[in-house]
Amino acid sequence: MSQIKSVLKEDRRFEPSDEFRKLARIGDFETYARMYKESIDDPEGFFGRIADELPWIEPYSKVLDWSDKPYAKWFVDGKINACSVCVDQHASGPRRDKTAILWEGEPGDLRRYSYAELQVEVSRFANALKARGVKKGDRVAIYMPMIPELAFAVLGCARIGAIHSVIFGGFSAHSIRDRVEDGGCSAVITADGGWRRGKVLPLKAVVDEAIAGIDSVHTVFTVRRAENTVPWQDGRDVWMHELLAEVDDDCPPERMDSEDTLFLLYTSGSTGKPKGIRHTTGGYMVGTYLTTRIVFDLREEDVFWCTADVGWITGHSYIIYGPLANGATVCMYEGAPNQPHAGRFWEFVEKHGVSVLYTAPTAIRSFMSWGDEHVTKFDRSSLRLLGTVGEPINPEAWMWYHRTVGEERCPIVDTWWQTETGSILITPLPGAVATKPGCATVPFFGVDALVVDEEGNEVPDGAGGLLAIRKPWPSMLRGIWGDDARYEETYWSKFDGRYYFPGDGARRDEDGYIWIMGRVDDVLNVSGHLLSTMEIESALVSHPSIVEAAVVPRPHELTGEAICAFCTIGPGFQSGDELVAQLKEHVAKEIGKLARPADIRFAEALPKTRSGKIMRRLLRDIAAGREIEGDTTTLEDYSVVARLLGDEKA
Ligand code: WTA
Repeated sequence: MSQIKSVLKEDRRFEPSDEFRKLARIGDFETYARMYKESIDDPEGFFGRIADELPWIEPYSKVLDWSDKPYAKWFVDGKINACSVCVDQHASGPRRDKTAILWEGEPGDLRRYSYAELQVEVSRFANALKARGVKKGDRVAIYMPMIPELAFAVLGCARIGAIHSVIFGGFSAHSIRDRVEDGGCSAVITADGGWRRGKVLPLKAVVDEAIAGIDSVHTVFTVRRAENTVPWQDGRDVWMHELLAEVDDDCPPERMDSEDTLFLLYTSGSTGKPKGIRHTTGGYMVGTYLTTRIVFDLREEDVFWCTADVGWITGHSYIIYGPLANGATVCMYEGAPNQPHAGRFWEFVEKHGVSVLYTAPTAIRSFMSWGDEHVTKFDRSSLRLLGTVGEPINPEAWMWYHRTVGEERCPIVDTWWQTETGSILITPLPGAVATKPGCATVPFFGVDALVVDEEGNEVPDGAGGLLAIRKPWPSMLRGIWGDDARYEETYWSKFDGRYYFPGDGARRDEDGYIWIMGRVDDVLNVSGHLLSTMEIESALVSHPSIVEAAVVPRPHELTGEAICAFCTIGPGFQSGDELVAQLKEHVAKEIGKLARPADIRFAEALPKTRSGKIMRRLLRDIAAGREIEGDTTTLEDYSVVARLLGDEKA
């Protein structure tokens, strides 16, 4: 990766308008540069001042303790409750009647909650959890559709100090099971079903399949949403509406230590087993609070819409914790962007007067393919700022977003970060930093970002290298649940503990801007979601017909990357369309629809190194129909590749 050649040539540059600058929280580059320098020279002073804007129950004694590297402690000894930061401070002040959550269901139902109402809903949820014995430190899995109750569940856990582990509603029973077991969850919060593309997803039934035989789960809280019939286990399962009818409105927030775990969120790693990324309370709240305010240039009257699912980190940080900590009005939408028509998002923007929109390149590419008329038909004059996250955005998609959606009026913040980083680390500040299509631009406050070679030496400007981060930041992960060794190995061993290694390639240009070049390992990025090749391969191999499988990405104009699987089949099985269809279904069931391969190809054997490792690099070239590049001398048997290439031409 350190040898990666940059083929992207992009000279366009967009300055924020004077009008935008004038009202912006940070309106010129010099102010950004001065504050950035302060944050690097004196992180404790800088972040201490930011932290003081949050309602602490008890003050911290020290801003940062980095003595137990790589385990940071931020705001040492401070006591704080994340739910109080998001809800109580606003419910008892002038934002009492301001809309906190504005929600639309896929069928078109609408609900709004003011901060005062949110406080009641969240407190009742928290009391319902308590009524079934859920307490501080317990892990609670949440598998829900994008409905307001998902936010209540997350915040309700935070209120009583239970650790939430949200599992994306598109994951299969198998994936839920792994996560519930790994986290040792004692309860699950789900719903009967949720609406997606005009159909009901039977969430409760999937949970039942997932947790069959797992004794640690004593309660399945079930929210009624789609009114579909559900399987039921008496004693274990409870209807949330029945329980809520019995509990009271008042639930005092638990006094949490700044370093108490707030949540786990599982992310795929290159070695298959998902990692339970652990985030704590004080630092995470400071990071999400500050980035929401500065990167999205938040104003009191903004209507903020992050279109991610709460099942991903983007939804945790920029639907729930960051915006609510700022007392913003946030939007939530349950369903698909093209249900019932391809203009659904833009209709939503018009109807609710969305002013800040944060979405993903994969969604942007879909909108492009559906046609401009679905966008331009609706009034987008309320929009003033656009954002993107999840993968590198191609310059042409950026330009389309800029012209067609933003009418050349709205700055675009291309924000780079990860589940592990908790909040945005590299991004333009919209009133201060000129943007370039496809470029995440400059490091955020406190982020000491470098582009280095394999040895950790900084590479010259313009050269590709590995992204590395030198200093701890408040919202950084504190580890992997139950696996310190893997935390140290994955993120800190690459540069002998000197830098955090995010696993991405990057390049710094002549203006000092950072361009992200994608993952350096084998993880797939489908529609902005990282999937482990290993997990998909394991799912394929779990099918009786498959002996061995290798999964690689090939470029895809809509989803970013499409999954291409090379499989060798066992004796007695017949390759062909029928098996292809079966295998695709099988993967969808094992892992989730997202992981369903686009192509499945059968091979007599897979190319391997002499030590037996599959050489995915070669398969990537074959899958994309490219010439095979690079060294093939480590290959055990070249005829394997020759046969695959022959097959390509046939
Ligand atoms: C990629 C999502 C380029 C990157 C918040 C990172 C990006 C991974 C960008 C994390 C961006 C995210 N430009 N690449 N603006 N944003 N990525 O954990 O490879 O789902 O390491 O967190 O997505 O994905 P995750």
